[in-house]
Amino acid sequence: MVLLKPDAVSRGLCGEVIRRFEQRGLIIAGMKMLKVSPQQAKRHYQEHVGKPFYPDLIDYITSGPVVALAVKGNQAVKVLRTMMGATNPVDALPGTIRGDFATQMENNIIHGSDSLNNATRELDIFFSKEEIYE
Ligand code: PPS
Repeated sequence: MVLLKPDAVSRGLCGEVIRRFEQRGLIIAGMKMLKVSPQQAKRHYQEHVGKPFYPDLIDYITSGPVVALAVKGNQAVKVLRTMMGATNPVDALPGTIRGDFATQMENNIIHGSDSLNNATRELDIFFSKEEIYE
């Protein structure tokens, strides 16, 4: 599960990021633009409750529309995370999404699930079963 975060939407980077996924051979099985509600944000980031950056994380993801993507493909979680680059864009290599388009942790463009379990959990927050296609 991928979220193109509010700064990706406001900067007009969604097409470029989706192009990269499709070019790589990943399959977009679901896609929607939405404004993340505080309830959805808290479910999505439940494992980070109590961390110092948690309030900023919730503020950021609810600050404007995002694009949620259900992405399928061979080893999709691993492939996506490699394409995204390091969480802190300062450490992200050129050629990765964060390495090409971001410099700040607080505006790091994109979220990608870090495991298949979390992908399933996160998809359930943003999509109904009927909204994900084979
Ligand atoms: S941890 O503690 O190692 O699990 O955290 P990490 O995986 O590095 O990051 C978890 C998510 O929090 C975001 N993050 C931040 N946002 C704003 N400000 C600061 N300082 C900050 N530090 C971490 C980070 O981008 C991760 O969000 P997602 O949406 O998963 O990328």
